[in-house]
Amino acid sequence: MNKVHIIGVGPGTMDYLLPIAKREIQNADCLIGAERLLGLFADLNKEKIRLEGHFTDVIPYIKENRDKKKIIVLVSGDPGLYSFLGQLSKVLSKEEYVVIPGISAVQMAFSRIGENWQDAEVISLHGRKFDNLAKEVKNYAKIFIFTDSKSSPEKIAANLLEEGVENRRAIVFENLAYANERIIDSDLKNLSKMKGFGLCVVIIKK
Ligand SMILES: C[S@@+](CC[C@H](N)C(=O)[O-])C[C@H]1O[C@@H](n2cnc3c(N)ncnc32)[C@H](O)[C@@H]1O
Repeated sequence: MNKVHIIGVGPGTMDYLLPIAKREIQNADCLIGAERLLGLFADLNKEKIRLEGHFTDVIPYIKENRDKKKIIVLVSGDPGLYSFLGQLSKVLSKEEYVVIPGISAVQMAFSRIGENWQDAEVISLHGRKFDNLAKEVKNYAKIFIFTDSKSSPEKIAANLLEEGVENRRAIVFENLAYANERIIDSDLKNLSKMKGFGLCVVIIKK
């Protein structure tokens, strides 16, 4: 029986992809993932399924084809952090899939500022609202936030200021590991006035 592989491909460049992940991907029949991640393997002649809607859309395909094909689901960073792993593990038994870890954007961001993160609170606003964000920020000295276009860094900063959070360092990490990587080390007030961020994460620190 072929096991479905869910593989973390790091923040999105080959430099941060584990050798075992490369090997498994080379031996695959079918790669499923977001455009940005499939693009890493543009030169590999494999069946590729671009995820455009919800992950649940491809679950019937995976179930129907996993015996015939070696299927790999590509996710960014580490599959154990806010990825399709949660959904996959609900529809397959543990014997039916394998997880290969990748380097998370959390690891990349903290390594860029040369700090450990065992004491950091990690949260995701990717597809989620700001509920409780200010409370979390008030409770923790170091918070790491996954963002998206609706919960962008400047909106996060504006929300925190509105909720009475002050005197925090706010660091934005954009396009980590890519040639156009950008790190903006600022504070909530200045960050709330900026705009135009792309793929990014934020660290808020006391
Ligand atoms: C659904 S979460 C997945 C997190 C992933 N499993 C991890 O361990 O990093 C996707 C979010 O990760 C962040 N992200 C992924 N790649 C990134 C990169 N190269 N640079 C900055 N942020 C990135 C963005 O906040 C993006 O919205």
